[in-house]
Amino acid sequence: MAVQIEDVDESKLEELQGKVITDVAGSLGLLIGYLGDQLDLYSALAEISPATSQELAENTGIKERYLREWLSANAAGGYIEYDPALQTFSMTPEQTMIFAAEGNPNCMQGFFQAVVSAYTDVPKATEAFRTGEGIPWGDHSECLFCGTERFFRPMYAANLIESWIPALEGVKEKLEAGAKVADVGCGHGSSTIILAQAFPNSTFHGFDLHGPSIDHAREHARAAGVANNTIFEVSTATEYPGNNYDLVAIFDALHDMGDPVGATKHVASTLAEGGTFMLVEPFAEDNLEDNSHPLGQIYYSFSTTVCVPNSLSQEVGLALGAQAGEKRLTDVLNEGGLGQVRCAAKTPTNMVLEARA
Ligand SMILES: C[S@@+](CC[C@H](N)C(=O)[O-])C[C@H]1O[C@@H](n2cnc3c(N)ncnc32)[C@H](O)[C@@H]1O
Repeated sequence: MAVQIEDVDESKLEELQGKVITDVAGSLGLLIGYLGDQLDLYSALAEISPATSQELAENTGIKERYLREWLSANAAGGYIEYDPALQTFSMTPEQTMIFAAEGNPNCMQGFFQAVVSAYTDVPKATEAFRTGEGIPWGDHSECLFCGTERFFRPMYAANLIESWIPALEGVKEKLEAGAKVADVGCGHGSSTIILAQAFPNSTFHGFDLHGPSIDHAREHARAAGVANNTIFEVSTATEYPGNNYDLVAIFDALHDMGDPVGATKHVASTLAEGGTFMLVEPFAEDNLEDNSHPLGQIYYSFSTTVCVPNSLSQEVGLALGAQAGEKRLTDVLNEGGLGQVRCAAKTPTNMVLEARA
């Protein structure tokens, strides 16, 4: 479709071009970063820094010519350091943390992996826009599930036991004494396993409709030594079995669901008397204009290609989106029968709502 363009403001054009060029550089920086992650190049460089491309080649067994170009792209983007006199490359502690410190909340590699999956799945998103159909979570490329786990787990590890659980009324004490807990939409089970390790007297039931994620969760639980107090099952949020749960939690998944009100009703019906629903969602203000910053752009973009399509693939298809905000989420919880809702904790990336009947 040809568009007519008149009255172009040259300075605004230049400003936008500058922004877009920065974004294009960033999108390729992320690709270069992910390539380094998949080949373990950042850890290798950090270990032998400073090093020439030849030394890194000898250390990794990868062809020097590939490495020289990859190192140059990294140096041009400020991801690593370059000494022109010695022609060596090195990594500062901060660069090592961002690119090579797996498990550290500052490490961005899981984030990169999830973005790569969004690029991989562009044909599916294009088709979904054309047809209006949804895309089930399980139809995405494998790196979405792994990227989500790698990105979320360190944030849960940093916050869940230290601050989110203590921020809920009376929950920590119940978990210490021995409680029954459901983690709904648990994915690879990161949150379930962190909780199970911290509270060995309690029993944790992880539910997710994606079978392969549940298989991973079981394996991870075995490896983490919590197979005896975790049970993982394939089930949906509106149908998962059991009742009398002292705590039901949903981590970064309610907005992905087709029927979040139905899910809340089911949560309410399975809670023990005095039980708590902990809802962890991406941090968002209530209005688009207040979410117009890089993190908001990131969340809305993932939401466009992953969260909204997943919700539209299920019954009801409410499609809350990843930036629903506290007010909209509170309305959903109220509609689902949980009348007492308060924001218990916030981080720059997440908000934790506590809901009770
Ligand atoms: C963004 S992932 C979050 C996974 C996990 N809670 C975490 O924080 O790592 C969303 C998860 O919700 C699950 N999911 C989506 N709709 C669901 C539904 N209706 N019932 C149960 N799980 C659902 C997906 O399969 C996926 O594992």
